[in-house]
Amino acid sequence: MERSQRSDLRLAPWSEEGGPALLARFNTPEMTAHLGGPETPEKLAERHLRYLRLGDKGRMFRITLDGETAGSIGYWETTWQGETVWETGWGVLPEFQGRGVAADAARLIIREARAADRHAFLHAFPATDNGASNGVCRKAGFTLRGEALIEYPKGRWHPCNDWRYALNTGDAAPRAGG
Ligand SMILES: CC(C)(COP(=O)(O)OP(=O)(O)OC[C@H]1O[C@@H](n2cnc3c(N)ncnc32)[C@H](O)[C@@H]1OP(=O)(O)O)[C@@H](O)C(=O)NCCC(=O)NCCS
Repeated sequence: MERSQRSDLRLAPWSEEGGPALLARFNTPEMTAHLGGPETPEKLAERHLRYLRLGDKGRMFRITLDGETAGSIGYWETTWQGETVWETGWGVLPEFQGRGVAADAARLIIREARAADRHAFLHAFPATDNGASNGVCRKAGFTLRGEALIEYPKGRWHPCNDWRYALNTGDAAPRAGG
């Protein structure tokens, strides 16, 4: 289990324990405002299985804080501008927001993606109007490369920022805190 330098924040591999319950808690209009809205129970079940079965195509985690489930984060393979890269994404439950949980977890996921030793770049594509998620990218040391139109979920195109972290060179090593 990965630990951040803030000792109480950890990444627990996605599992039956806490996974489906966390997806259900995320499935609100507020939590999915930038992600196309709540999903059907069938879609949530599919998502859970997809997270469990990523194999060498990525990894999903539950974020825990003092042993309590605080959110989710992961990385997975995608094709971006003709290149195979890692993509990351995150969510933090409302009662844990605004405490740097997502930024700390993003620093840990950078380490995880680097340790996978498979792709040179980790991207994040928050909607341009998702202030908090863009703040996470900035705090975790990603570089803003520009705007792009992204299709997510299928059939819904919306403006996103393309943030990139160079896993082998380039960006500074992840730091704890501010
Ligand atoms: C995005 C999300 C994960 C952020 O979680 P969090 O743990 O509250 O984030 P952090 O506490 O690490 O803070 C992120 C930074 O963004 C800043 N921020 C927060 N809301 C902001 C806003 N509306 N506008 C600009 N910056 C904002 C924070 O102040 C912080 O920066 P600072 O410490 O320099 O002040 C959380 O809001 C969430 O789960 N949202 C719903 C799901 C989602 O949209 N996921 C992202 C998909 S790309």
